[in-house]
Amino acid sequence: MSTVPSPIDSAKHAAAERASTLVASGMKVGLGTGSTATFLVKCLGERVRSEGLDIVCVPTSSATAALAHEEGIRLATLDEAGWLDLTVDGADEFDPEFNLIKGAGGALLQEKIVATASDRMIVIVDASKQVRTLGAFPLPVEVLGFGMDATKALLEQALEIQDVDGRRIEPRRRNGKLFRTDEGNHILDLHLNRIGDAQGLALALNQIPGIVENGLFVGMCDTIILGNVDDTVETIVASKE
Ligand code: A5P
Repeated sequence: MSTVPSPIDSAKHAAAERASTLVASGMKVGLGTGSTATFLVKCLGERVRSEGLDIVCVPTSSATAALAHEEGIRLATLDEAGWLDLTVDGADEFDPEFNLIKGAGGALLQEKIVATASDRMIVIVDASKQVRTLGAFPLPVEVLGFGMDATKALLEQALEIQDVDGRRIEPRRRNGKLFRTDEGNHILDLHLNRIGDAQGLALALNQIPGIVENGLFVGMCDTIILGNVDDTVETIVASKE
């Protein structure tokens, strides 16, 4: 029985498919995590099998690694691959400056390391991810389990002087237990409603010792590939100033 994809899924698929055409043989490619990145991995797997596309990929999570392996995509660790030509990943929100919130899937740490070690980061999204100002989506922050309450208290203090409209912090849970990332850390979701200064907030968060990384990706993405529910795709390229 074949199931008809939802409009959002077809938009994600359309964006992923377009991004997959930017991948060429010989490239080293970072593979993002999440539902949109899943479509990308499947599109690339299809090209590997049908066209013999010769690429080496670095996954950003154990889930993406498992899927890419199933798809017959050649994988390497980031250290084996070295510098990457391109990373393609999803996002939870993006603003007009191409600042992103990422981490709903809990893979923000590997995602940020891999994207930073790439010549380019292309983000694939459906139109619901486009916002004027970041912050309606809770900002994920990866923290060590060690001293997590102290880290949370320091974070509450740090947020008092930030340009945000909400300050509620919720430890992420899965099946009644604290969520664990691939690195064994936890996630605090920050309900900020509006982030006035993404760069300032990202820098302030990473000053707190128990914080491993935050889900703000500032100045990293140069191209957004946006899928619409009617299957049209827009490619938005950052202006170079
Ligand atoms: C994974 O940790 C996230 O950063 C995802 O890239 C982001 O949440 C987008 O996911 P979807 O493509 O599933 O919306």
